Amino acid sequence: MVALEFLFLYLLLGIIRGFMFLSPLKIGDVILPNNLILAPMSGVTNSWFRRLIKLENPGAVGLVVTEFISIEGMTRQNEGSLRMMRFREEEAPISIQVFGNPIERMVLAAQMIEESGANIVDINCGCPVPKVVKKGGGCELMRQPEHLEKILKAVRTAISIPLTLKIRSGWDEENKNALEIATMAEASGVDMLTIHGRTRQALYRGEADWGIVADVAEKLRIPVIGSGDVVDAASAKRYLERGVAGVMIGRGAMSDPWIFSEIVAASSSTHFEVPSETKTIDVLLRYLSLLSADLPEKAVLGRMKQFATQVTRRVPGSTPARRAICTCKTTEEMISTLEEWREFLNGKSETRYRPPQTSAASGERFPQQAANLSSHRWRTNNA
Ligand SMILES: Cc1cc2nc3c(=O)[nH]c(=O)nc-3n(C[C@H](O)[C@H](O)[C@H](O)COP(=O)(O)O)c2cc1C
Repeated sequence: MVALEFLFLYLLLGIIRGFMFLSPLKIGDVILPNNLILAPMSGVTNSWFRRLIKLENPGAVGLVVTEFISIEGMTRQNEGSLRMMRFREEEAPISIQVFGNPIERMVLAAQMIEESGANIVDINCGCPVPKVVKKGGGCELMRQPEHLEKILKAVRTAISIPLTLKIRSGWDEENKNALEIATMAEASGVDMLTIHGRTRQALYRGEADWGIVADVAEKLRIPVIGSGDVVDAASAKRYLERGVAGVMIGRGAMSDPWIFSEIVAASSSTHFEVPSETKTIDVLLRYLSLLSADLPEKAVLGRMKQFATQVTRRVPGSTPARRAICTCKTTEEMISTLEEWREFLNGKSETRYRPPQTSAASGERFPQQAANLSSHRWRTNNA
């Protein structure tokens, strides 16, 4: 009888697993709890942002990656670069991403990363920025496959933690060499490869080409991660169903900081409560508190405004609030601005966050539009 119950439970678990589209991910000897990765984003995925995303998505983020760090700066002990390398224990598993060109410096930087206790070394071959590319780093490495091969082999023998690579689909439409680079990287001992399905020329325009990513994923034995345009559970599922081993989420995490939990809930068919509008204020205050613990006020305000610009867009009609947040001169002013906005969202105050209906709604200048405008439409149109 007990054996039968056990068998039933086993079968049930198997069926449930069959519907799940997420799974643990093995990169070398590092095992991630799931295959959702917070993408490296320069100027965004600093330690505070990484911690914020992990705090907002308990247990749902498989891996975080730092913003890219110059190997020149790192290996010359540049204070800024060394600061960017720092991470907290609670961020693990963590991958540190570097960019640059000279082999010896890449090896040194990788060794520094291993010594820092980070779990993975990631080499950037996707950055399109002229400043980086002109010096042979970022996407330029995709145009120097022989040199890149030497880098990868040298780094591989110099470190024992996993080595990963992040590339684009190619330099431009005529030079989409992701498969060639990926095949060479696998043969050189790379443990995982991420592809952003856009060319260097495309920058961030148009839609990411998931076809080329899926094609490379099918041909390689190492895990291939897809990056580009994952913005919700449906897009993550669609991408994973095309055979990638995992997905990276970049901009989607800025505009929806709970995206990881949402995807995990969808994968396990559990209910996900869409965070209320006022949760936007909670997440902003949490970020402010994390930043304020370590940074001077000016730096806190800069990072807050950057995040606020993205995350407030989820709240329809948030333009006036966004403007108010972005003109704050002190953190104190920012906190009271956010609390004032909360009062408005809760319907408890008539503040400057009210849509500017005075001219339109009163019908003075635009009587026709005013007649058509419900408060809801105003909010949606101006989001
Ligand atoms: C502001 C910003 C900064 C980025 N910085 C990096 C970076 O430092 N290293 C990197 O490999 N990719 C970087 N990327 C690319 C992202 O990691 C990702 O591949 C790309 O944004 C597509 O994914 P998404 O649609 O989920 O944002 C950056 C993207 C953005 C928007």
